[in-house]
Amino acid sequence: MTTRLAHANIAAPDAAALAEKFHRLLGLEVAAETVVAEQGVRVLLLAAGEGRVEITEPLGPETPVGRFLAKRGPGLHHLAFGVPDIDAALARLRAAGARLIDAVPRVGAEGHRIAFVHPETFGGVLVELVEEEDHGARGDLPPAR
Ligand code: CO
Repeated sequence: MTTRLAHANIAAPDAAALAEKFHRLLGLEVAAETVVAEQGVRVLLLAAGEGRVEITEPLGPETPVGRFLAKRGPGLHHLAFGVPDIDAALARLRAAGARLIDAVPRVGAEGHRIAFVHPETFGGVLVELVEEEDHGARGDLPPAR
C-alpha cells in the first residue's frame, strides 16, 4: 500500500485573503482557482511541494461548507490521501468497522474517484481518499526488464 498526503483542505470565509497570507508568510503560490457550483464552493489550490493546500470558500450560507463554517468556524475541513486503489482502501476500512460517508466512490471535481471517511475514524478529522492512477503500487515497481 502506498499512501501519500494529497492535500489539506481549509474552510475559510474569504479564500483570497487567506491565500494571500499563505503567499506572503510562507511563499505558497496559487496554482489554480475553481468554482464547483454543485457544491457551492470556490476553491483555491496552493502548491506546497508534492502536496497542496486547498482553501474552500462557500458561495452561500446554505451550502455544506457554509454550514460547516457556521457550526465549527474557519479551520481544517479535511485531509486527503492519494491511494492507488480506492476500492481496496474502502474494503479495508469497511472490514475494520470504519464509518464510511461514501460506501462507493464518486467522481470528484477533478475527475478522480474519491470517497469520504467519517471523522470518528481518524481522530475527529474528516478524511478524503483520492484514487491516483499515476502513483502507488505500479509507480513503485522497478522498471520491467
Ligand atoms: Co479534498
